[in-house]
Parts: sequence; C-alpha cells; structure tokens
Amino acid sequence: MNRALFLLSAALVLTSLGANAEARTLAQIKASGTLKIATEGAFPPFNYYEGKQLRGFEVDLGNAVAKSLNLKVEWTAQPFDGLLIGLNQNRYDVVLASHAITPERQKAVAFLNPHYCSAVNIVAKKGGPLTRTALVGKVVGTQIGTAQIPVLQAIPGIKSVRTYPNDQTILTALQAGRLDAWTSNGPVVAYMLKQTGLSGKIVIGEAISQERNAGAVAKGNTELRDALNAAMKKLQADGTYAKLSQKWFGQDIRCP
Ligand code: ARG
Repeated sequence: MNRALFLLSAALVLTSLGANAEARTLAQIKASGTLKIATEGAFPPFNYYEGKQLRGFEVDLGNAVAKSLNLKVEWTAQPFDGLLIGLNQNRYDVVLASHAITPERQKAVAFLNPHYCSAVNIVAKKGGPLTRTALVGKVVGTQIGTAQIPVLQAIPGIKSVRTYPNDQTILTALQAGRLDAWTSNGPVVAYMLKQTGLSGKIVIGEAISQERNAGAVAKGNTELRDALNAAMKKLQADGTYAKLSQKWFGQDIRCP
C-alpha cells in the first residue's frame, strides 16, 4: 500500500473510532457559551420525559451547575448503553445518567464526584423472590449496559439474566409474568411504582449493591472535571442541592 493510501485508511479507522476528535476543553466550552450534557431520559425521577420535556433531578442539577458556570445547556437524550461511547466520541461534554462509579468504567471515562448514593434493589410481584437466595432458579431482568449485570452474574444459581432497553420495559415484563424479578436503583423503582399505582402489588426487596452515582467527562478532561466538581460543591453548600433533592425525593440523597 502506498503511503497516501495508508494514511487515508488510518485516518478512516481513527474517525470511525472517534479517536481523532479531542474533547472540548473548559476554555472552549466557555468560549462557546454552551455546555453539552447527555442523559437517557427514561430513568425517573433522575432523567425522564414528561411529554416532550426532559425533566428530573439530574436535569435540574445539570442546569444549576451550568448556570453557576455562566453556561447555557444543550441536552441530548439517547439510549443508556451508548452514553459513555458517545462521550468518548466527543459528541457532548458531560454524561449525567446515574452511572455507578465502577473500576471497569473508570478505565474508559473520568468520573465527577458522585452527586448521590443509592442501592440497587431486587423487585418482584408480591410473594415473589425478594432476596439473593430467593433468586435461585429465577429469571431476572435488568437494563442493558448497567452495573447490575456483573453483580447479578456473580449471584449463584440465577436461571438467567435478561437485559432490556430501559426500566419501563422491564416493569411491563415483570407485570406480564415474563420475569420473576427486576433489579434497579431503589429511588427509581419507588418512583415508578408510585406513578403506576403498583406499590403493594410489586414490592421492593433486598439490596444487591450500593452505588456512588456520578456524572462523567472524557478521560484527561481535567479542567472541565474540576470546574464541574467545584460548581457541584457550591450547590451542595448553598442549599440548592438540598432543595432539589427534597423536591424530587423528600430527602437529601447526597453521599455520606
Ligand atoms: N446505576 C446503574 C448503573 O450505573 C443504572 C443506571 C441507569 N441509568 C439510566 N439513565 N438508565 O449502571
């Protein structure tokens, strides 16, 4: 292959990996006036749609952080399992979608300080399996791309772990009896059961993990990470965070 052709094909490979684009620096973001934040939009009450309106605790927090940095926000919503990939293709500056900080993900992205802590719980119809040991021989559903998949795979005796595009589809499958149990972050399950009037018919059980849930920026984007952490720290000190957490959860869910 001649040199020009080699360089061209190398460039194409890099483009398809997104590896040639650089993450926007804090200075570039400030110059543009707009912070680009991506989320999922199907994880209530953290990030979800009410009609055409993106809403939720993480949406309020993202807007408040941007405001304190004098930036506007451009929100993008897309399926959960592609969010960190898109971040590394520099399609947006930040991801705010309740990611648990895990060693695996830390290889790929730089996490912010956690903006809340939560448990992942087992959920089942009344009378169904609500503990790890009760999951033996059962079919469990969880969202694709989540940190609960390896946690479930490490529990001995589960018949199968099925993945779904989002928690709404899992709740439907659970109700229809296609699944014995569901796992998701406790505050999400509590909110969805209340919204759908299913509390009592569907019950929240034992926790399978405790998470520190955080936003992420591209690896090496240190100035942006530090600026976002500082802004969040300010919101946690001046009462803004407490007010938003009360609004969405009736309690303060920051990490101890
Ligand atoms: N906390 C879990 C994880 O880190 C689930 C997060 C799901 N987020 C969402 N927007 N659906 O994998």
